[in-house]
Amino acid sequence: MDITLSLIKADVGGYVGHSSCHPDLLDKAKESMEHAKQQGLLIDYYVTACGDDLQLIMTHQKGQENEQIHKLAWNTFVECTAVAKKLKLHGAGQDLLTDAFSGNIRGIGPGVAEMQIAEREAESIIIFMADKTASGAFNLPLYKIFADPFNTIGLVIASNMHSGFVFEVHDILENKKVSFNTPEDTYDMLVFIGSPGRYCIKNVYSRQTGEIAASASTQKLSLIAGRYVGKDDPVCIVRSQGVFPAVGEVLEPFATPHIVEGWMRGSHHGPIMPVSVRNARATRFDGPPRVIAAGFQLAEGKLIGANDLFDDPAFDSAREQANDIADILRRMGPFEPHRLPLDAMEYTTMPEVRKKLAPRFQDLD
Ligand code: F6R
Ligand code: MG
Ligand code: MG
Repeated sequence: MDITLSLIKADVGGYVGHSSCHPDLLDKAKESMEHAKQQGLLIDYYVTACGDDLQLIMTHQKGQENEQIHKLAWNTFVECTAVAKKLKLHGAGQDLLTDAFSGNIRGIGPGVAEMQIAEREAESIIIFMADKTASGAFNLPLYKIFADPFNTIGLVIASNMHSGFVFEVHDILENKKVSFNTPEDTYDMLVFIGSPGRYCIKNVYSRQTGEIAASASTQKLSLIAGRYVGKDDPVCIVRSQGVFPAVGEVLEPFATPHIVEGWMRGSHHGPIMPVSVRNARATRFDGPPRVIAAGFQLAEGKLIGANDLFDDPAFDSAREQANDIADILRRMGPFEPHRLPLDAMEYTTMPEVRKKLAPRFQDLD
């Protein structure tokens, strides 16, 4: 059975500040999704939030980039914005960059990850959702999951994974894509994906079957709007088991937190902390960046779950490590590398301060 999984997310208002999502927004989104399910447009849905980002997980048979599905998500965000405005939540409607929907939700604010799959006998899916970070934040974990035998032992000892995976990487500045076959293209690929601000892993495919294995959102809000409008806060869908890495191999990269950009004012590096949905709240210095993992089994498109996969003491040590890294980085205050380089900060006073001080700048001898 061919099923399309569409994960569409947006920040349409924060409670309190940019820390989390108000329950009334979740209720409104569920109402809209339920209506679409009753109408037969959706097979199933699951609504959740990571920090201030509202997440619509939908299954249907309309295929990717479908106008009806994208319009449903857009209209849901518009309805939720109305609720956010009424409650005077912070930044109501902040990710909706246009007044008019014109066929596709890409390029107008919300983040999108979609995949069309032939549902397997048992279809295990893990959906990662992150807050206070940027597209490209999943580059390192996706590399580890699908190309690093120190993370994924299946690459070495499971014959159906031994031929490796294909990574489709997008250059989000120049709007180009390139594919790498791992393991043989690994070193070439790392030249690019080690720079996640520009090169983002979009899709991963099994070389054994050609099937899609993972898909991440790569929207960069500041590039779309030409100015800072909010964080990209990416999402990623990963298929698991069988020809794909096991659930434990998919989760394992998050046991050792990596450092991403996007903390406080989208202008700082911070550790990405794996947390339960309940703890997906960006509090300390508006963070630190968080990631949640919602696990599902698909049954004829029905979403059996969510199983809150980071709600587990096995990730306590990762959370402690993330707190330690946060403490170390915070000591540096306004200095790089805690603060992002000048051209990457979402907030800056540089042009005005530079202008004000221009008369005081003198040529060096
Ligand atoms: C938002 C974020 C926050 C905000 C900060 C200032 O996703 O990363 O750290 O940038 O709270 O927000 P404003 O400018 O809305 O007052
Ligand atoms: Mg926000
Ligand atoms: Mg957010």
